[in-house]
Amino acid sequence: MARIVGGLGSPHAPAVGAAVDRHDEDSAYWKPLFDGYRPMRAWLERERPDVFILFSNDHFTSFFLDVIPSFAIGVAALHEIADEGWGKRPLPAVPGDTDLAWHLARSIVEEGFDPAVCHRLPLDHGCLSPLSALSSWTPQWPVRVIPILVNVLHFPIPTPARCFELGRAVRRAVASYPDDLKVVVLGTGGLSHQLTGERFGYINPDWDAEFLDRLEREPESLARLKHQDFIERGGTESVEVILWLCMRGALSPRVRCVHRNYYHATLTGYGQVVYEDTESAAR
Ligand code: DHB
Ligand code: FE
Repeated sequence: MARIVGGLGSPHAPAVGAAVDRHDEDSAYWKPLFDGYRPMRAWLERERPDVFILFSNDHFTSFFLDVIPSFAIGVAALHEIADEGWGKRPLPAVPGDTDLAWHLARSIVEEGFDPAVCHRLPLDHGCLSPLSALSSWTPQWPVRVIPILVNVLHFPIPTPARCFELGRAVRRAVASYPDDLKVVVLGTGGLSHQLTGERFGYINPDWDAEFLDRLEREPESLARLKHQDFIERGGTESVEVILWLCMRGALSPRVRCVHRNYYHATLTGYGQVVYEDTESAAR
């Protein structure tokens, strides 16, 4: 039986991937963030998951205003590296898991979620920044990746409660998959940030700390909030924390937080967490 052994939270800003490509992880500017990835990488090396279920969003890369699915799942055997306008990052294509992805798609549809099932879904910084910060890709990516993308760019976007429920549906889907796989779920995206308008550059570390406390201990209280609540507290683009709610919904009600880090730089509050699932079967 497949089981979720834990969940990770990671930023996904393009600047993170650019720092990886420039080998800038130890600069004074980036060290506080990349030091936060070290325990995450060590945890992954210990756990050796087979599959990441990666909750992220597209940034008008694979989808545009003509079609914006509320939810999308990538079922390809290999996910292409997207060109976001400045050339592709020098990364090999990312392996998928077609069988498990189709199982997830079928299961969540039965539960009332209707994702776009994507046979081709080139990955942008939303997926690649966290993947390249968490894993080495030579000689090959160490894990298969199933991207589940949520629209956070263009209203109407799915509610926080719906995203939390999507996570729970994914948890049940994984539990009903017969193969013996170790799965890790990832929630990605900036905590507080606003990239447009009057409050451009807004960051609220106090709210980010409260968000991380509540995500660990009382995630339902966050799932009851409205988009507007997140936007007021953390800035317009912080609404993408609903991707973290997907991750948290996929974990046991009680989790063991074994790592937490926070840094803010450029335009975004960067949170990093590792939660161990307390109900996953004996190892
Ligand atoms: C930026 C982009 C993102 O998608 C994000 O989540 C945070 C920051 C940026 O362009 O700085
Ligand atoms: Fe983003």
